[in-house]
Amino acid sequence: MSSDQQKRIAAEAALEYFDEGIIGIGTGSTVNHFIDLLSDIKHRVEAAVSSSEASTKRLQEHGIPVINLNAAGDLELYVDGADESNHHLQLIKGGGGALTREKIIAQVSRKFICIADEGKLVRRLGEFPLPVEVIPMARSLVARDLVKLGGTPVWREDFITDNGNQILDVHNLEIMEPLAMEQQINNITGVVTVGLFAKRPADILILGTDQGPKTITV
Ligand code: 5RP
Repeated sequence: MSSDQQKRIAAEAALEYFDEGIIGIGTGSTVNHFIDLLSDIKHRVEAAVSSSEASTKRLQEHGIPVINLNAAGDLELYVDGADESNHHLQLIKGGGGALTREKIIAQVSRKFICIADEGKLVRRLGEFPLPVEVIPMARSLVARDLVKLGGTPVWREDFITDNGNQILDVHNLEIMEPLAMEQQINNITGVVTVGLFAKRPADILILGTDQGPKTITV
């Protein structure tokens, strides 16, 4: 089975957690499956709060209304993908560059369901380069500080986030303590958001596997 088929299986299983109302929607190919499935029950979707222009476009193409988070308040449910998850459901996110809005929606959501193919579950975070969104004028400053932490930052050239910022993908980081590292990187002047989701991990991880969906909670 391909990883894309596994993503579809995870998205199908996540749909069971949605009853009705307003839902938070992440970004990426796994979430795209979820959006497509959501359109079949869109009569139950009052509105979506979207984490990216790409997801907003897809939701609207399906006729699902998208509202601003400020109008929505706290959310019951947020569904998003990840680039890596450990067994504590701490995540690396931002492969698609939407990490800042994703982290905001995760923060205001009572339940955060992460959906992914089974290859995303790792023993220790950090093989996937850690995305960091930075204010453009601070890119070199932040990069130097990331080197001091032992990482190798690479500028994601020709990419601008939905917030008008830039991304550094940090290779070779040893993420032994995700929570501490999240705080440390967030504290670097010029950093908008680091793609480590440890302070607010997922509540439920649904992995698509060849044997069907596998659900992990902590
Ligand atoms: C986007 C993300 C995505 O959730 C992450 O990159 C996983 O993407 P995919 O579902 O395509 O594997 O964090 O910013």
